[in-house]
Amino acid sequence: MDLQLIPNRPEPLYVLLCSPEHFKIVDVKNVHMQGNSGKEDHQKALEQWQAIYNIYLSEHKSGNILGTKFIIGASNCEDMVFCANQSFPWIDVNGKPMVIMSRMRYPSRQNEVPFFESFYQSLHYTVFPPPGDGLLEGMGDLIPVPGKMLIFGGYGHRTDLTTLDQLSKMLSCTILPLELVNDAFYHLDTCFIPLDTQTALIAREAFNQSGYDQIKATFAEVIEIPLNESAKGFALNAHVVHGQRYPFAVIQKDNPFTTSVLKEKGYKVYEVDTSEYMKSGGSVFCMKMMHY
Ligand code: ARG
Repeated sequence: MDLQLIPNRPEPLYVLLCSPEHFKIVDVKNVHMQGNSGKEDHQKALEQWQAIYNIYLSEHKSGNILGTKFIIGASNCEDMVFCANQSFPWIDVNGKPMVIMSRMRYPSRQNEVPFFESFYQSLHYTVFPPPGDGLLEGMGDLIPVPGKMLIFGGYGHRTDLTTLDQLSKMLSCTILPLELVNDAFYHLDTCFIPLDTQTALIAREAFNQSGYDQIKATFAEVIEIPLNESAKGFALNAHVVHGQRYPFAVIQKDNPFTTSVLKEKGYKVYEVDTSEYMKSGGSVFCMKMMHY
């Protein structure tokens, strides 16, 4: 695919988080949660979330991003802090913001969606329900190529292939499907970071041959991240932002290879500790939503 031919798209530069006072591990929604029920340290979780929020606040203050907000986590929603999953904000060809809400796999997580819907309504977004009747988990499985009207869509765990087809028609935008074949990488945002139109960071183990070929055919440079960083360290759940002034990344600490790649590529890198959230299968990327 020649990315030069794909229309451009402005990057969203507002950050939304969801406060973690009701974050808990109560069941096993993904393999990372096995044996972790009740094992989260609540105080530590609050501090870790605050540290991430402070990074975005300072990036906002310095004018690199446009805004930082959070919505308050609801008491019956133990995973709501992972606010990358309930929605997919997008922009139409006329530059009007729109959002497609998720149809989440787990009933307890479906309860999170209306809170985000109200948030987008308050911003005057056009809000759409998910197409068809298949699963869709928002930005967890829909990763746009920076600056382009092109989306990679992960499927197999939390999002259905049929939904990707329907969504592609709904948005009039190509969605390149990638089957996720490894339980450790149950959302696309755990194994794939397109840095720009040239370079992508991936966990090779997450994809089958055709998915891998698709990624190789799209990006001139594909950097494979070792399994100890991708699966254990959630390195590919880093949040990479093309700010107004400079690019930056927020990444789980102790991922030296991925961190050095990002630094070499010119990113200002913030290393944070998300240990309590990793017990639930998520890290930085899952804990925020970029919106217009
Ligand atoms: N416990 C949550 C779940 O399994 C974690 C979600 C992490 N989010 C992500 N985008 N990978 O649903």
